[in-house]
Amino acid sequence: MSNLKGFRMKRMPEPQLIFEQSSPGRIGCNVPVADTPEVDLSAVLGDLREELNLPEVGELDLLRHFTRLSHINYGIETGFYPLGSCTMKYNPKINEKTAGLPGFANLHPMQPVATIPGALEILIGVQEMLIAITGFDEITLQPLAGAHGEMTCLMLIKAYHESRGEGKQRHIVLVPDSAHGTNPASAARCGYDVRPIPTTEEGNTDLVALAAALDDSVAALMLTNPSTLGLFEPNIEQICEMVHAAGGQVFCDGANMNAMVGTTRPGDHGFDCMHLNLHKTFSTPHGGGGPGCGAIGLKSHLEPFLPAPVIRRSEGKVIADTDRPSTIGRVSGFYGQFLMEVRAYTYLRAFGKEYMADISRHAVLNANYVRARLKDVLPPAHDRPCMHECILTAEKYKKENGIRALDISKRLIDYGFHPPTNYFPLIVPECLMIEPTETENKETLDDFCDVMIEICREAVESPDLLHDAPSTQIVGRLDETAAVKNLDVRWWPSK
Ligand SMILES: Cc1ncc(COP(=O)(O)O)c(C=O)c1O
Repeated sequence: MSNLKGFRMKRMPEPQLIFEQSSPGRIGCNVPVADTPEVDLSAVLGDLREELNLPEVGELDLLRHFTRLSHINYGIETGFYPLGSCTMKYNPKINEKTAGLPGFANLHPMQPVATIPGALEILIGVQEMLIAITGFDEITLQPLAGAHGEMTCLMLIKAYHESRGEGKQRHIVLVPDSAHGTNPASAARCGYDVRPIPTTEEGNTDLVALAAALDDSVAALMLTNPSTLGLFEPNIEQICEMVHAAGGQVFCDGANMNAMVGTTRPGDHGFDCMHLNLHKTFSTPHGGGGPGCGAIGLKSHLEPFLPAPVIRRSEGKVIADTDRPSTIGRVSGFYGQFLMEVRAYTYLRAFGKEYMADISRHAVLNANYVRARLKDVLPPAHDRPCMHECILTAEKYKKENGIRALDISKRLIDYGFHPPTNYFPLIVPECLMIEPTETENKETLDDFCDVMIEICREAVESPDLLHDAPSTQIVGRLDETAAVKNLDVRWWPSK
C-alpha cells in the first residue's frame, strides 16, 4: 500500500540510563575560577560527591540523552491520539500562555477575595459561557474531575430529596449498562443502591425496563448523552418525563459534550443537572492524571444546595457568596482548579459564540468519516450515524483468526499510532472505541484508516504479526496487570 510507505517499522533501541553513560572526569560546564579562598569541601561536608554518585557526562551527551527520552514519549503533539471517551484533542498553546500569566499563576489560594477581582471575573465569565452552552440555570466550577462532578450532582439530588422528606425512601440510582464506570461508583460513594438499566439492540435506553424500574424508591437516573456507544439518545425527553413522573431526578453525564457544544443544550432536554469535563471538551489537557475540572450545571430547584462559596454577580460586582444555609458544603478547597478555568475561558473566548458549533460539527464529522472508511473491515456496533466517537467491533477476527481487539491496538503502535480505547463500553464484544476529535485533518484520518485496513488484512493473512505486536518498541507485549502493579521506575543503575 503506497500510503503506508512513510511508516517506519524499526525496533527502538533501549536507551541507557544517564549513569551508564558516565565517564569519570567528564563535565558539562566550566566552573569559573573562584576568587575566594579555597575550602576543602570534603573536610566540611564529608565525601558528598561520592555518596551522591552523580553521572559525569558532557553537555552534548546530556542534551542528547534527554532529547532522546522526550522522543520516546507519545503525546498529541507527536501523533494522532484516537483514545475514545477521552477527547484527546489538541489544546491551543494560547491557553497555556494565559494560564501562565503571572497575575493568574502566582495567585495565592489564601488571598483575600477582595484582592482577586480579576480572577473572579474569569470564574464568572466561564460560568456564564457554560450556562449559555448547556442551558442550565447555574454552574459551579468547584468539582475537580468528571467523577467528582457526578458525585457532587448526586449530593445535590440527595439534599433535594431530603429537603422534601424523601431522603431515606429514595435510595436507588438507575445507571444504564453502557455507562462509564465512574457513574455507579459515584452513586455508591453517595450511599445509593445502584440498579442497572439495559440497552436495546439499537443502542438506546430500554424504556420498558426503565418503566419497570421506576417507583418512589428511585432517587435518580444517570444518563450519558451522547452515550458511551457514541449515539445520541433519541428518547431523552420521554425518559426525563418518565423519571420526573416517578419523583426522581435526571443527571446527565456530560463528559461527551464535545459532540453537542453550540449545537444542542442538555438543559433544554429535561435534565436536572449535569457534569462537564473541562479537561476534555474545553481544552484543558486530559490524561496523565493531571488536574481537571468537572464543572456542573443545574436547574434552579437544586440551586439552594450548591457547594459554597457560590461565585455570582451582586450589585455590579462579582462576589464569593458564603451565606448559603442549605449548601452541601465545599466539595473542594478554594474555588476548584483555577488555572483550568483560565484555559477554558481563553478557549471559549477564542471561538466565540459564532464558531462554537464548529467544535461539535467537526468532531461528529470526523468520527463518521472514520466509521465510514472502516465499516467494511471493522463493522460499527450499531447501524446508524455516530456522534463524536465510533464504536467498532473486531468480533469476526476473534472468531475466524484468533485475533482480539487488543492485538489490533498493539499492532497500531508498530505503525506509529496511539491505540484507541479497547473493551469499553463493556456491552460491545471486542470493542474498539475511536474518538478522532475535531482537531485532526483529513490526511491524518486517512493515514490512520489506511493503517487500520492494512492491520485487518494482516489479521487474516499473518495473524502472528498482531499476536507479537508491538515489535518496534523498547518493550514488547507486557503483562498488563504486572506492568501497573510492579512498576520499575528506577533512575539508578541496578548494579
Ligand atoms: C463518559 C464519561 N463519564 C465520566 C468520566 C469521568 O471523568 P474523569 O476521568 O474526569 O473523572 C469519563 C472520563 O473520561 C467519561 O468518559
